[in-house]
Amino acid sequence: MEKRNVIIIGGGVIGLGIGWQLAKAGASVTIYERDKAGRAASWAAAGMLAPLAEAHSEEPELLKLGCQSLARYPQWVRELEADAQMPIGYRVEGTLIVGLEADDTDQLRHLYTAQQHLGLDVNWLTGRDARDIEPALSPRVTAAIHCARDHQVDNRLMVNALQRAYQACGGVLHENSIVERIAIKNGVATGVQTEGGFHKADVVVLAAGCWAAEIEGLPDAIRPPVRPVKGQMLALQMETGIAIKTVIRTIRARYPMSVYLVPRSDGRLIVGATSEEMGFDTRLTAGGVFELLRGAWEAVPGVYELPILETWAGLRPGSRDNAPILGKVPKLTSFARAAPCPRPSVENLILATGHYRNGILLTPITAYEIAKLILTGELSEAIAPFQLDRFFVGGVLQRNSPKL
Ligand code: FAD
Ligand code: GLY
Repeated sequence: MEKRNVIIIGGGVIGLGIGWQLAKAGASVTIYERDKAGRAASWAAAGMLAPLAEAHSEEPELLKLGCQSLARYPQWVRELEADAQMPIGYRVEGTLIVGLEADDTDQLRHLYTAQQHLGLDVNWLTGRDARDIEPALSPRVTAAIHCARDHQVDNRLMVNALQRAYQACGGVLHENSIVERIAIKNGVATGVQTEGGFHKADVVVLAAGCWAAEIEGLPDAIRPPVRPVKGQMLALQMETGIAIKTVIRTIRARYPMSVYLVPRSDGRLIVGATSEEMGFDTRLTAGGVFELLRGAWEAVPGVYELPILETWAGLRPGSRDNAPILGKVPKLTSFARAAPCPRPSVENLILATGHYRNGILLTPITAYEIAKLILTGELSEAIAPFQLDRFFVGGVLQRNSPKL
């Protein structure tokens, strides 16, 4: 069989994950990354693998996808650690969602009821039960939900491992190499244009995170509705007396905002995150850092003494419905012919973007299923509901907001 020549735009966890699986299967793969691979949202993330804690009853398809991806994590970790010859910090201690006041407990109870309706494996705990699991929690914690099946991975280690595994399997990575344009000829993606010239491909994968809609060459009618959603974060150094093991999330009905605390095996405690519609602005703000520290201190008073190691902000690739956009762009037949763009379908173009708050969680299912789609043409049931065509009404992509 002829070797498929695939170009991937973007070297975050999504681009690297797909590239690794394709290269491993014998495809000829080149990733163009405009910066250093994996240093955008994939580096900024907290690494929580939390479909249960982040479950919203109005997003059942996304919850299902998250649970399916989480179920594939053990295999993913074994395979990636073997190919990369390095650990990626996968931990299975679970998540505690805690409330601190009566109003928080009401909201927590509401979430617990919704989780039970969804059939999720979660447990209601008193404040004392929660402190038995995590003694550093504040005496003000009144109640908690224990999501024992929500796990975590060190996303920065995963970035490094993916890059190593991808290159070890023969994948080519061009860093500091921006894709200026996707070349589309007669409704077929034929390659990409970089500063170095035109590069031909059998398949082009758009995995450019929150920049996916910015790249030239895409007809407006199929430009994926993705925007940046800023998240400010910081890392503290855990010291004796505050050795947190479980991921802790607060649920706050009023002020201050909800935060999460994610303990890493190397002693770092990641605290996040704000959620801000600020375009591509990644500046840290006094208010953002203040809110994070205050939220963390209220749940775990001992953080007051901990040294600050790092502060940063990243941009989540948020889609119109918070779910990823995966697979081919819609076929012409699925459109009303009166659509404003005469040729809204593009052959040989695959989308893998819009993973929003769950991109680390969704990396395995995205990588396995998009690689399968490219290699065999088979669209799995798991990702079928997440194609771009869900946003079309009467042949026109509904954007709902000027940002999308
Ligand atoms: P990115 O990592 O952003 O990668 C896209 C890449 O494309 C970038 O490296 C960029 O430089 C490159 N690129 C863009 N345009 C071009 C171009 N024209 N040419 C070449 N390259 C280009 N998810 C979880 O599952 N759990 C979490 O706990 C979690 N926490 C998060 C916390 C924060 C603060 C943030 C910001 C995100 C968090 N996420 C989390 C979400 C997760 O990080 C993202 O969904 C995921 O990293 C998206 O991966 P990606 O590869 O699509 O995007
Ligand atoms: N999933 C955590 C975040 O996006 O902040």
